[in-house]
Amino acid sequence: LSTTELDVSAIQPGQSIKATFRKQPLFVRNLTPKEIAEADATPVSDLRDPQTLEDRTKPDKKNWLVTLGVCTHLGCVPLGAGEGENKGPFGGYFCPCHGSAYDTAGRIRSGPAPTNLTVPEYEFISDTTIRVG
Ligand code: FES
Repeated sequence: LSTTELDVSAIQPGQSIKATFRKQPLFVRNLTPKEIAEADATPVSDLRDPQTLEDRTKPDKKNWLVTLGVCTHLGCVPLGAGEGENKGPFGGYFCPCHGSAYDTAGRIRSGPAPTNLTVPEYEFISDTTIRVG
């Protein structure tokens, strides 16, 4: 299966981009310290799909959230990765199809989606380049 290399150096804190991985949308987000703090402040026991931000990011790269841009309900593309898009009530991503709201760690917080946005296999191959897949 194919891999995708992405230069993330231009993604500023607070920004996310939409890329493509194996024909699916891929979101890469550079979290602000506030967004990281919000994710960390959420008790894991409150979560439908209990994971910490650490579980979903790489060591020392906690600000980089890499997920598929595919709602885990019925597969719509959530909003929130483009400039000015509705990030939803938990500040991460929002699926307009049936109202699933994801937090700043891409975890499902309300609405019908059963699980967090999927974190694909990826690695940093330099400080500013990730290889997905
Ligand atoms: Fe996203 Fe239904 S497909 S809420």
